[in-house]
Amino acid sequence: MIQVSAIGHATFETPDLGRMLDYYQQVLGLVLVDRRGDTAYLASPLDYHSVVLKQGALARCAQITLQVPQNTDLADAAKLLTANGVSPEIKSDSEPSTAEMISFDGPEDIRVALIRERAVSQKARPSAGIGPRKLGHIAFNVHDVQGGVDFFVKLLGFRVSDWMGDFFAFLRCGPDHHTVNLLHGKKNKMHHIAFEARDWDHIKSACDFLGKQKIPLIWGPGRHGVGHNIFIYHHTPDGQIMELYTELDQMTDEASGAFDPRPWHEDNPQRPKVWQPGPQTSNIWGIPTPQLFRE
Ligand SMILES: [Fe+2]
Repeated sequence: MIQVSAIGHATFETPDLGRMLDYYQQVLGLVLVDRRGDTAYLASPLDYHSVVLKQGALARCAQITLQVPQNTDLADAAKLLTANGVSPEIKSDSEPSTAEMISFDGPEDIRVALIRERAVSQKARPSAGIGPRKLGHIAFNVHDVQGGVDFFVKLLGFRVSDWMGDFFAFLRCGPDHHTVNLLHGKKNKMHHIAFEARDWDHIKSACDFLGKQKIPLIWGPGRHGVGHNIFIYHHTPDGQIMELYTELDQMTDEASGAFDPRPWHEDNPQRPKVWQPGPQTSNIWGIPTPQLFRE
């Protein structure tokens, strides 16, 4: 089995590259580390690059790139994918600092790429904007949640952290509670992208900063039940939902099968489970889920 070890980056197409470049640099506070024609590479301090922006006809998430350990043979990974009915493409030097990449159609219209783990960018020292630590997770609306979970678990080595009912799955590939979420939806599309803030104080500063920029929060601050992260959400200029979060559950000891204990946990130990849907499962602090999160 392929063993994904970390999230790499998200690739977005945008009809207005200049506007999104401005947002990612001046508001979110990523650093432009490379540019090749109509493609821009942006990093946060704990990544090589976290977001790739490409000029395109429509605003959409075109690909999610995942990292595998350095000693992974990508040719073997491609063979395994082929044996499971997937058609991988192998590319050389297709992105900065990426000698080899394989990309393929994953489940439910999610385009997936695999690269070997890479060093963080030394250039990513934000001087403007919010300045999150790293890309944390990407959530997708999909028709067939269980089918998508099977793909990520059986082929890419993800583990199921939690379910909300039978329609929302949270998958991890490292200590973070989730790096990919799959949520039932009428249409296959990205639901939201999330970056990690340092702490609660950083979230407060982000609220003040967004307020000054006249970018309204669309949900939060709150604390999710599933994953227990403190969250705020706003829209990017392309209308995508952007989450900033902190205090996400961690499983630093996989063998224990439990998340590291925290004072706000309901269970002791807090183990992966199926959560019953309800207001507190979505937000312990009470502000209900906005309708636009269900679309
Ligand atoms: Fe999230």
